[in-house]
Amino acid sequence: MLVLGIETSCDETGLALYDSEKGLLADELFSQIEIHQDYGGVVPELASRDHADRVLPLLKNLLKSADKTLDDIDLVAYTAGPGLKGCLLVGSTFARTLAYISDKPIMSVNHVEAHLLAPFMEYPELSFPFFGLLISGGHTMIVDAKSIGEYEIMGETLDDAVGEAFDKTAKLMGLDYPGGPLIEKLAKEGIQGSYKFPRPILHKPNCDFSFSGLKTHIMLTWKASEKTKEVQKNISLELQNSVTDCLVGKLKRAHNERGHSSIVISGGVSANQFIRERITSFAHSINAEAYYPTKKFCTDNGAMIAYAGFKKYEAGQLYDLKGEVKPRWPLDRLA
Ligand code: KG4
Ligand code: ZN
Repeated sequence: MLVLGIETSCDETGLALYDSEKGLLADELFSQIEIHQDYGGVVPELASRDHADRVLPLLKNLLKSADKTLDDIDLVAYTAGPGLKGCLLVGSTFARTLAYISDKPIMSVNHVEAHLLAPFMEYPELSFPFFGLLISGGHTMIVDAKSIGEYEIMGETLDDAVGEAFDKTAKLMGLDYPGGPLIEKLAKEGIQGSYKFPRPILHKPNCDFSFSGLKTHIMLTWKASEKTKEVQKNISLELQNSVTDCLVGKLKRAHNERGHSSIVISGGVSANQFIRERITSFAHSINAEAYYPTKKFCTDNGAMIAYAGFKKYEAGQLYDLKGEVKPRWPLDRLA
């Protein structure tokens, strides 16, 4: 079966064709980073306008590179939430129109579920149950993934997402958006022990996170500093230390409660090599395995939507939200 996946929930327009026999046939991605760079974050109206301009040319390229036509597609899967409403509406309207004119079934995909299922494309040995750690610019959560469609959110951020902690710190120190990769680079040259930032709610007996207090602490530190390159490096290093301690600490708590031996890490922040190494060595210390999708599949993309659409269809979970989109769509309330 051939599945078309369409992702437009935030600032990436992603389309892909997934073949249930042959795997991923083709994928197309347009990242809007440059459009939003001057604003230090995603501007929803600019984002939805750009999705509207891009989807059709991207679809044409996609079909051409896979040597397929609309008629070859058996299922149209698209992101129906969570995400920015205007952006979701572009994808939803586009997907519905394609499904209607080609008389094919349609699948409304939850973006977070797609992030959790994406690693199965690359790691056939992965199996349920597992812990999902989603760390991006919009999400920070630990999920107990029990089976396809059955998830329990064990903890999530009470305020900022972990990617926001990186982006806001970068913005404060006059760096570009997105801040994560820049902070990671600066941190490599920081001097360990220069600062000691808090590890917010690390010792609370739950799997939640909170990063807004850390942001305030960093703001005060920066304001009182000489604002030099050295300070940028040392702040970056300690931010990374603090965030990683929180992530590993809460994973440890989740593991003590449920004992799963697989951890799937996804979302843009999982590109961070320091965080990867710390989580992997934690996983090995408890005889567990950490799974990371390759970079292209851990940030937003169309392939994960096509793949999730297929897996849900295969599991008999064809779900159609009709014209509705869900800017907030909790993972534990899918149907
Ligand atoms: O998953 P993603 O591409 O988009 C969504 O937020 O949905 O994640 C983007 C986030 C941004 O906050 C960015 O700063 C962060 O991921 N990020 C990183 C790194 N690369 C991207 N954070 C830390 N270290 C990195 N190397
Ligand atoms: Zn995402």
